[in-house]
Amino acid sequence: MSYRITALRALEILDSRGRPTVGVHLELDDGTVGEAGVPSGASRGSREAVERRDGDPRRFGGDGVRSVVATVEDDIADAVVGPAWPSLEDLDAALCALDGTPDKERLGGNAIVGISMAAARAFAAADGLPLYRWLPRVSPPRLPVPHFNVVNGGRHARNRLDFQEFMVAPLGAPSFAEALRAGVEIYGCLREALGRLGFATGLGDEGGFAPALQAPEDVLDLLTEAITTAGYEVGPDGVAIALDPAASELREDVGTYHVNGSHFDSVDMVEYLAYLTDRYPIWSIEDGVAQDDAKGWELLTERLAGRVQLVGDDNLVTNADLIAQAIRRRQGTAGLIKVNQVGTVTETLQAVRTCYLGGFDAMVSHRSGETTDPFIADLAVAVGCGQIKAGAPARGERVAKYNRLLAIEAEEPDLPYGRRPR
Ligand code: PGA
Ligand code: ZN
Repeated sequence: MSYRITALRALEILDSRGRPTVGVHLELDDGTVGEAGVPSGASRGSREAVERRDGDPRRFGGDGVRSVVATVEDDIADAVVGPAWPSLEDLDAALCALDGTPDKERLGGNAIVGISMAAARAFAAADGLPLYRWLPRVSPPRLPVPHFNVVNGGRHARNRLDFQEFMVAPLGAPSFAEALRAGVEIYGCLREALGRLGFATGLGDEGGFAPALQAPEDVLDLLTEAITTAGYEVGPDGVAIALDPAASELREDVGTYHVNGSHFDSVDMVEYLAYLTDRYPIWSIEDGVAQDDAKGWELLTERLAGRVQLVGDDNLVTNADLIAQAIRRRQGTAGLIKVNQVGTVTETLQAVRTCYLGGFDAMVSHRSGETTDPFIADLAVAVGCGQIKAGAPARGERVAKYNRLLAIEAEEPDLPYGRRPR
């Protein structure tokens, strides 16, 4: 079987923040169509695939992507429309070769990733399979534990909360549908509690509340209370908490972090996270220290690896080489997986494979700027990583992913739910 692309178009569309992004439409010779919407991050790792923008201040403050659309329809279409592609791997390799730079800066990661995602969809449809069944096998498929980002801070909200994400994770739920229900009920209890305390219940970029709180402890108290009020057990057998401090954004200077008015060095930061872990039902911490703080990552791993999952995002950027290096250096215990950080579906699968081979776990993730494309729901099931973060259980671009997971569960009720067995 091979796949022949007969048409490739792109469009400047909007993401969930109202910023331009790239939409891709691709057709195969059998009439099959594949489409994709490219997500966009706000707290990006410095080694991510380059997100190209027009830089013309007269349009969208420079954020337009017309030049990226033109690249897709001209340079890239010339190369990918016509030949018979034996596999997605071959197409992705050709896209990387055509770009020719290590971080996809010539064509743009946001051009390449849209084509790779749309092609995966079209190839799956041409073979008559759902995307999660079609994607090359990394591990047996399973339904992931959703990590609902119910309180937003950092670069995702205009409050004074330094930590970026406070998530609830129904680890002990009997099914994905029940996990989603728990997330919604806890989100509702949290809204009530915030209202009762006189906080505004406006939302941040990922659909979580963005109250005028400053201390992580205050948020963690509220979350623990909301889990209990909603009637769920707190902890690993019920609903646990996950954090993404996004510590690269807390960096003041080399070796210092600011959290809630305090100035921490790497050692203080690790001790602070250990203290939070002692006091609250935290099961996972992402980017607990900054991307350039190698010593901090080692310290964090030494101190907490036995007790909590330590996920690398900004430092690993879904890059198999960086993941392999972190595994060797004992920096963290898991990799965050974002397709647009590395730029192709094939490289994303390679990143997950590298995680598993070295004993790391993996968590599939959305970006703070999203479209309604639910690609990552299928991806999370396909790679069997058992965990996904896709924002709060609210707002269309977030629930698109959760609704897709519901549909997959309904289609295949025998798929296991929950964390990947170690
Ligand atoms: P971003 O942040 O999508 O804004 O980069 C998400 C994260 O840090 O996990
Ligand atoms: Zn992160």
